[in-house]
Formats: sequence, C-alpha cells, structure tokens
Amino acid sequence: MKALKNSLLHALGVLAIAISSSHAQSGGSPAAPATDGLPNWAFIWDPNVKVPAPDDKPNLLPGSSASYSWKQARDLFVAPDWHPGDHGPMPDIVAKGRKPDVRACGSCHRAEGTGGPENSNLAGLPVSYFVQQIADFNSGARKMSGPDSPAKTFMIGSVKGVTDAEVLVAAQYYSALKPTRNVKVVEAETIPKIGEARMFFTKSPGGGIEPLGRRIVEFPDNNEQFELRDTHSTFTAYVPVGSVAKGEALAKTGGSGTTLACGICHGPALKGIGPIPRIAGRSPTYIVRQLYEFKTGGRSASAGALMKQVVEKLTPEDIIALAAYVGSLEP
Ligand code: HEC
Ligand code: HEC
Repeated sequence: MKALKNSLLHALGVLAIAISSSHAQSGGSPAAPATDGLPNWAFIWDPNVKVPAPDDKPNLLPGSSASYSWKQARDLFVAPDWHPGDHGPMPDIVAKGRKPDVRACGSCHRAEGTGGPENSNLAGLPVSYFVQQIADFNSGARKMSGPDSPAKTFMIGSVKGVTDAEVLVAAQYYSALKPTRNVKVVEAETIPKIGEARMFFTKSPGGGIEPLGRRIVEFPDNNEQFELRDTHSTFTAYVPVGSVAKGEALAKTGGSGTTLACGICHGPALKGIGPIPRIAGRSPTYIVRQLYEFKTGGRSASAGALMKQVVEKLTPEDIIALAAYVGSLEP
C-alpha cells in the first residue's frame, strides 16, 4: 500500500500544487462569527452558552443497565460505558486517560468511537492511519481551524502527552470496532429552529423553523442521551436540497476534472482501503471540516498531499455536496 500511495503521489504530481484560498460562505450561525472563508457552522464554539453545574445524581437511559451522573459524563477522565457488551475491553487510555494532561480518548470519542459532529468517529479506522494522525497533530502538520474550543484544546493537550504505546493500544482498540450508522442525512429548505450551539447545534426548545441556507446543520436527535455520551445516540444532518445527487456525481466521476473520483483511493464503497480511512457514513460536519483543512493547508502532512488535487478546485457548495453524499452512505 505504501508503494501504491507513493506511485499515486508521483502520478498525480500533487506535490507542486499550491493551495488556493477558499471562498466566503454564507449561512448564519449563532456560533462564532465567520472568519475569512471559514464555514463557521462546521466549527462551532460559543463560550457564552453556559452548561448547568453537573450533579452527582445517577441518570438512566433506555436500553442500558448502566447509570452515570452529569459529573461523570462531563469529566473528561471518564468514558461512560453504557453498552459494555458492544465492545472488547477498553484500554486505560481510552477509558480513563492519564492525569494530568491526557484526557480519556473515550470521553470525547466515546467508548465505541462513535464521536459526535464536533469531534471524529474513530470506529474501524486503519491502525497506521490513526497512529499517523496523532503524530501529525503533534508535529503541527495537522491543525484544527476555527475558534479554540475545549474539544480542540483538550484533543491537542491529550495527544501531546500520550506515549507511542498508548497511541498504539488506542488505535488497535478503535480500529477493531465495527462502525455503525448513526447519522441520517435529510435534504431540506427549512430546518427546526436552532437553539443553543455551544459545540454543536441543538434545536430551539421553543420549536419553530428557519431557513437552512447554504450550510449543513447537524443535530443530535436526543441532546441528553448524546451529552451523557451514549454510543447509541443518533444524529440528523440537514443538507441543501439537491446536494446528495450533486455530491454523488462528483464523488463517482470527479465531475469532469473538478476533483477525482473518491473511490480510487477510499475504495469502491468509500469504506477505506489499507492505510486510507473510511469516509462513508461519517458525520457530514466532520467531512466538511476535513475538506476545508486539506484545501487551506490545515492538513498538510505528506499523506494529505494525495487530497490536495481532490480539494483544490472544490467550491464551498461542492464541499457541502460531497459531505452530504458520503455522510449518507452505509459506513
Ligand atoms: C476533548 C475531546 C477529545 C479528546 C479527549 C480526544 N480527542 Fe481525538 N479528536 C478530538 C477532536 C475535536 C478531533 C478533530 C476533529 C476535526 O479535525 O474536525 C479529534 C480527532 C482525532 C483523530 C483523527 C481521526 C481521523 O479520522 O482523522 C484521532 C485518531 C484521535 N482524535 C484520537 C484520539 C486519541 C487516541 C485520544 C486519547 C489519547 C483522543 N483522540 C482524545 C477530540 C478529542
Ligand atoms: C488520490 C487518492 C485520494 C483520492 C482520489 C481521494 N482521497 Fe481522500 N484521502 C486520501 C488520503 C491518503 C487521506 C489521508 C490523508 C492524511 O493522512 O492526512 C484521505 C483523507 C480524506 C478525508 C479525511 C478522513 C478522516 O478520517 O479525517 C476525507 C474527508 C476525504 N479524504 C475525502 C475524500 C473525498 C470526498 C474524495 C473524493 C472527492 C477523496 N477523499 C478522494 C486519498 C485520496
């Protein structure tokens, strides 16, 4: 696979490509103000949204005999394990992290790697890809754009402190998990009115609707279940009308030179091949962030050079369309 990657790199001549700047995007969001070209709806962080002080009272959820308090659920050194039968033994680094700096990988990415729109679904990622990403975060070759949210700060803080052995054991654990379908992609002109958006969108408790515009708005279907970190949580991602078909055409044909067919490298069903990760069925919000990072140089590691040719000519609409399509696929 290394040989294939190298020959692809060569054939595509991608190393010489300069990354052009991105285009401005619309789509109002209650989150951080838009900075130049940043799809701010995919990089949510609003420190003004306050979370209630967590208490010790145990919470129960349907379909699980476990119970966790809000104090535990908000503790980044705890990975709530609502469904112990769904996975093998969690390594300590995933379940508890290592104080003082390494937060439990499973607190943000969840016990089964299911994650959420604000982080990343890790289930089934290739071990070598996983390990390389941690090295890239550490070296600065992979950055996270947008405001300095706790998700970003604590992810970087955590990977700065891990040992190679801990990374490997976490990679092996998450890689062995079978990804499940947890996002439903829905095309819509109007969406439920957005309420608070601290690190992800929530629906306004007062109801109502608002126009979607040119963006993707991904809601947890049940905020409490998601925030208690239940890995059976599901999400609905609203995408502009027509974007799934547009994304499918781009993904399958490359759109007459706009991009390259994704299947060449990510495999025919986009479930990943060798060291190249799965993109099928992942959070469309996550996919948008990554395409943005490849395009603007936030992901500039050598393996990412293969993606430069893919994203170079994509417009903000193309990025939304591709994310809508790949998010709608079976993982
Ligand atoms: C505070 C929350 C948080 C913690 C704790 C955390 N991460 Fe992350 N992780 C994130 C965020 C946020 C991203 C990046 C999302 C993005 O770029 O859009 C991420 C991305 C990743 C990725 C890249 C996935 C991909 O598909 O490229 C890997 C691998 C990863 N984390 C592993 C770990 C490991 C291992 C640990 C524990 C040592 C850990 N994370 C702890 C929040 C967290
Ligand atoms: C020439 C090979 C190639 C093609 C074609 C390609 N990719 Fe990739 N893609 C890669 C490689 C290699 C990586 C891993 C990059 C890294 O390690 O930084 C990647 C990573 C990604 C990621 C980040 C995944 C993650 O877990 O963070 C996304 C999203 C992505 N590709 C989307 C696409 C889409 C959408 C298409 C089609 C329009 C596409 N790719 C076509 C090679 C390719």
